[in-house]
Amino acid sequence: MNDQDFIAGLPKAELHLHIEGSLEPELMFALAQRNRVCIPFDSVEAVRAAYSFSNLQDFLDIYYAGADVLRTEQDFHDLAAAYFARAAADGVVHAEIFFDPQTHTDRGIPFQVVADGLLSAMRDAQEHHGLGSKLILCFLRHLDEDAAFATLKAAEPWLDRIEGVGLDSSEVGHPPEKFARVFAAAGDMGLKRVAHAGEEGPPDYVWQALDLLKIDRLDHGNRSLEDPALVRRLADEGMTLTVCPLSNLKLCVVDDMANHPLDRMLAQGLCATVNSDDPAYFGGYVADNYRAVAAARGLDRDQIVQLARNSFTGAFLDDAAKATHL
Ligand code: HPA
Ligand code: ZN
Repeated sequence: MNDQDFIAGLPKAELHLHIEGSLEPELMFALAQRNRVCIPFDSVEAVRAAYSFSNLQDFLDIYYAGADVLRTEQDFHDLAAAYFARAAADGVVHAEIFFDPQTHTDRGIPFQVVADGLLSAMRDAQEHHGLGSKLILCFLRHLDEDAAFATLKAAEPWLDRIEGVGLDSSEVGHPPEKFARVFAAAGDMGLKRVAHAGEEGPPDYVWQALDLLKIDRLDHGNRSLEDPALVRRLADEGMTLTVCPLSNLKLCVVDDMANHPLDRMLAQGLCATVNSDDPAYFGGYVADNYRAVAAARGLDRDQIVQLARNSFTGAFLDDAAKATHL
């Protein structure tokens, strides 16, 4: 069996996926037409050509603009249904998906429209693809603490269907400590906690995510490798890192896939996983991420299997559900 088929055939969990980042240009155009929204592109090719980024902020500017075509519950359903179909084809049997409610509520789209559209697609994914999923509500870190608290309050009627909270958007200048109180409140409500840290931000942001946000999982975490004491702490705690190789390349977190640190993370005892982040913008879904990093770093099949196992170790599934995959 070639590596391509081996990777797609390996059951895996996806733990770092922004559902708004799975908006393919074709669907962006279809929704723009359906909702009579103007977008600043003439063609699908022109959209793809605009996806060249030199850092995280470059990407975020275009990602938030693209999300403007999402208006109705059906739109959010269709967005997530398209992701689940692609993920299932890649061997994903469990996905924990991020959504950014503030990107939508700040445009006047009610929280209910977003949440119910995503939740109905999640039910369909279980039925049609046997793909289980969980929802993680992310706070936008470039906005303030009050806005995050207001979002948590708006989510209250859905909290039985939301697994946890996360933290995303522009990292540098918006340290985890800014959200310590809202993360504490989320923890008191029984929610899991994850945060993007160490993507562009320094190792100190990862320490803050651990000590102040009390995270259950670390998103990206690449720059942790600059601090040996931090690596020891992450390894000792069995902290899962949700690493995103194609994202790292597209956002210039790594200069070349040949220099990606994924296997160094494994060698240092870190529970690293492979994920797609924003697949419509970064050139591939989860199996493409496994393939790209495996080819560039010469990963063997044991390492690839280890990465898939780690995705279940790090998932927010109970022990019985994990045991069926490990
Ligand atoms: N980093 C931070 N925020 C994000 C990302 C990311 O990679 N993708 C979507 N929002
Ligand atoms: Zn991300």
